[in-house]
Amino acid sequence: MTGIEVWTEKYRPEKLDEVINQKHVVERLRVWVKQGNVPNMLFAGSAGVGKTTIALCLARELYGENWRQNFQETNASDERGINVVRGRIKDFAKMKPLGADFKIIFLDESDSLTPEAQQALRRTIESFSGVCRFILSANYSSRIIEPIQSRCAVFRLRGMTEGDAKEYLNRIIKGEKLKADANALKAIYEISGGDLRKATNLLQASAALGKITPKSVYEVAAQANPSDVLEMINLALSGKFTDARKKLHDLLINQGLSGEDIIREMHRQVLNLKIPEKNKLNLVEKIGEFEFRLNQGGSEDIQIEALLTHFLKAKK
Ligand SMILES: Nc1ncnc2c1ncn2[C@@H]1O[C@H](COP(=O)(O)OP(=O)(O)OP(=O)(O)O)[C@@H](O)[C@H]1O
Ligand SMILES: [Mg+2]
Repeated sequence: MTGIEVWTEKYRPEKLDEVINQKHVVERLRVWVKQGNVPNMLFAGSAGVGKTTIALCLARELYGENWRQNFQETNASDERGINVVRGRIKDFAKMKPLGADFKIIFLDESDSLTPEAQQALRRTIESFSGVCRFILSANYSSRIIEPIQSRCAVFRLRGMTEGDAKEYLNRIIKGEKLKADANALKAIYEISGGDLRKATNLLQASAALGKITPKSVYEVAAQANPSDVLEMINLALSGKFTDARKKLHDLLINQGLSGEDIIREMHRQVLNLKIPEKNKLNLVEKIGEFEFRLNQGGSEDIQIEALLTHFLKAKK
């Protein structure tokens, strides 16, 4: 017993009803569950939007208690090629389904297979069509060969909105009896970009620090907090170079951020500054230049300090 619970597993939905967003997929699956039969499927979508989760919920609803015997998850990319995958599929398919007509094989990261391997996979899908249904998971459906796509019901999973992410995170917050401020959830959403796995991990890491605030979230994400970077920029814009420099050192040393993180956040902030348009363009160009120098091995504090001097004259 490690005693550490991983929230991404603890709060993974077990019923289709609990899946957030993806209504278009869930509704179709419900109909098929009722009929007791499903087609081969392709779930396309970015990381952490529910591809694996939906497949697991489907298996539970189709098979009830026996779901584990009738469902196999295989990763296409971490095996030594399609032959291993086919071997495993064969072994699994050979055993009779338990209380059902077919089993389900969930093939993660199918788009990492080469076109040749996908052709082999297509033949495998066909030869086991009597006893197996395949659910392929992929980031991009365009990387799946046409003969497979045409044999599957293709579902494009949607990205998570801020509201979706909040709904999910609030389940965890309630379940764990946590306190989190609204801005912290916003920060988590912005950093995770709608990947609920990443969002959950940020929440858990931040909670482990004892509090969930934008500051703790940025800290565990090792990302520059936009408000800190903006403060540094504004100090420079108003000519307070020494203070801007202090803020920079706080970010680099006390917060342990990399120069790259800070520059990236400066880049994001520049376009929203209240300065003349042509100065913005100038600064964007400078930022590019200094990012390049950093990549060439320039020292972080010296380079960003030099970059800050360009902000001193950018107000007018
Ligand atoms: N639509 C969703 N509804 C509820 N929870 C979700 C949803 N999408 C993702 N999650 C949560 O995020 C985590 C990862 O989800 P999941 O494994 O389904 O992602 P995925 O789409 O398969 O991503 P990957 O491409 O990385 O495999 C799980 O903890 C799950 O509970
Ligand atoms: Mg997955």
